[in-house]
Amino acid sequence: MSEGLFLTLEGIDGAGKSSHLDAMEALFKARGRTVVRTREPGGTPLAETLRGLVLEQAMDPLTESLLVFAARRDHIVQVIEPALARGDVVLCDRFTDATFAYQGAGRGFDTQLLSTLEQWVQGGRGAAGLLLQPHITLWFDLAPEIAAERLAGARLPDKFESQPVEFFRRVAAGYAARAAADAPRFVRIDASQTRDQVWQQVETALVARGALAPATGAAR
Ligand code: TYD
Repeated sequence: MSEGLFLTLEGIDGAGKSSHLDAMEALFKARGRTVVRTREPGGTPLAETLRGLVLEQAMDPLTESLLVFAARRDHIVQVIEPALARGDVVLCDRFTDATFAYQGAGRGFDTQLLSTLEQWVQGGRGAAGLLLQPHITLWFDLAPEIAAERLAGARLPDKFESQPVEFFRRVAAGYAARAAADAPRFVRIDASQTRDQVWQQVETALVARGALAPATGAAR
């Protein structure tokens, strides 16, 4: 059995990442892969319940971080690990990079503590105790001012979407720092281009990483 492929999409609200999920799923399916499409916070009934709380209720950043990682733990145990063990492609809209970007950089929460939680929730894999991380992370990078314009009037904003542009400047810087710290995993997508051009970047990146080869694992 081939090893699964764990692929995540990241970026600030309004960067347009989610609009490419259908096409990505189709691309993998056309190559005979089974795709598990999911999201964070969420992906299981319990984690979706926690998502509702995190996105709708005011809370201090530690509570928020604990809830996000609790949701992640359930998602990993119930969905992500089993799918990867079956050799599936896990296409996940956001993962832990979002916690470092939003709770860490955006809300100014202690990133050391986030690293500890990351270790608890994602660590201990195999004999070497490795950390579960995506094989490839597509980072949709867009200036916060443009993202805010795209979001304006789109729909009723949730707790994060209604934050001021300064918040998203910090979140964007958080993503940039996370990408710099783990460059081999990240692909930066210039999300300021047209939708078609952005899709071209996504497809090119997946080909370059060997992700579209039939039923092989990630090229990392
Ligand atoms: P998002 O993925 O943008 O979904 P939708 O397109 O339906 O709004 O919304 C999730 C929000 O949750 C987004 O604002 C980022 C935030 N978030 C965190 O603050 N921390 C996290 O760890 C994750 C995964 C998301």
